[in-house]
Formats: sequence, C-alpha cells, structure tokens
Amino acid sequence: MNVKIAPSILSANFAAMGEAVQKLERCGADMIHCDVMDGSFVGPITFGGQMIKAIRPITSLPLDVHLMIEHPQTQIKFIAEAGADIITVHYGAGKKVSPHYLEDTLKMIKSYGIKCGVVINPDVPDEAIFPFIKEIDMLLLMSVFPGYGGQKFIPEVMEKLTQARAYADSIGCTNLDIEVDGGVTLSNAKDIVKAGANVLVAGSAVFKAPDMAAAIAALKAV
Ligand code: DX5
Ligand code: ZN
Repeated sequence: MNVKIAPSILSANFAAMGEAVQKLERCGADMIHCDVMDGSFVGPITFGGQMIKAIRPITSLPLDVHLMIEHPQTQIKFIAEAGADIITVHYGAGKKVSPHYLEDTLKMIKSYGIKCGVVINPDVPDEAIFPFIKEIDMLLLMSVFPGYGGQKFIPEVMEKLTQARAYADSIGCTNLDIEVDGGVTLSNAKDIVKAGANVLVAGSAVFKAPDMAAAIAALKAV
C-alpha cells in the first residue's frame, strides 16, 4: 500500500495559515489534516468550518477534517459544504444525544457525497468499531490522547493497528485507509506502516523539520 502523509495544520503558524497550506502542497503532502477542537470534547479550541472554507480555494489537496467535538452533527453540514473531502468523528462523541449517534453521523457525512471515518482513542479497543468498518472509508487510530500536538507516541497502539488491519482484510475491506495520528516521527514511521497504517498524520515531525519537503519525502519512503 502507498503511504500517504497528512500534515496537521495544528502545528502551523495560525497567523500565516494560507502560506503554511501552500507550502505543504509544494513540499509533497498528500492531504491536509485539519484538527477541529471545541474546548469541550478536548481542552483547546482551534477552528471550525470557517477555516476549512478559507483554505479550500488555496489548495488542491484533499482536506482531511478530524472532528474533536462533543456534538459533530451540528457541524457536518457547514464543514462538508465548506469543502472537506473526508470527515472523521470520534467513537463516543454524541452518545449522550442518541445511542445511534455514530451511525447517524456517518450517514449524514455520506449524504454530502464525501468520505467518512471513525476515530478511536488509545484506550478504546478496536472491537468497539468493528461493526462500522464496512461503513467507513478511513479508520483513524489515535496514538496519543487528542488535544495537543507534540506528544509522545503510545507504543501499545502498534498491536491495535495490526489487529485492525487484519480484521479489515478478513472481512474484505482491503482498501480501508488506516490513519495514525499523534507522535509520528521518522524513527517510528516504518514500524507504524509495517503494522498496517497507510496514512500518517504528522504535525511536529513536518513543521519542526529544518527541511519540510525532505521530512515529508522521508516519511513517505519508510
Ligand atoms: C492531536 C491532533 C493531532 C496532532 C498531531 O489531538 O489530532 O493531529 O496535531 O501532532 P503531532 O504529530 O505533533 O503529534
Ligand atoms: Zn488529528
């Protein structure tokens, strides 16, 4: 499987977001990972549909929107219409609203003709999302607890990755994208890909690198 690199603009300079996105495209990124945080599901607040709408016209790369928000259904329409190519929602978000919240959210995302995915935190077992695998384009395994860039990769996620890829293959979902988010570096990327991931989110590893293009190329070549 081809490895795709999805740099997270959480690590960009927010005062120069347009330039950051265009630089990522020039430097070989495969998609732009957009971390939407609401100050409730996770501590910080980042940005929402307005930012997606602002960066949509300045890049041709797919926008991979990771929603870390309590009630994703309230934002799907705006974010989809703003130009997201894929929206991923956390397992467990909105469950106070309805027990079928996740299924309904995935249907809602698909109704806009875009891709959908489910995200699980490091302490959620893979089995929790097995019933949804056939409904999604991408499974996002968090390898840190969400909320902040620059954290250390949690090694236990490797086993979850292997298991998730094996399960997806066993039910015929051989094209499922499995994305890993949090603490991805040049030192662990090879093992992450070997374990079954084909999409790597990288914030610090790309933005803190002295040469962004070289960092993206090196991550892609693992
Ligand atoms: C964390 C975010 C990540 C973060 C990754 O909650 O979902 O996308 O930006 O940053 P690094 O690669 O620095 O761990
Ligand atoms: Zn993310």
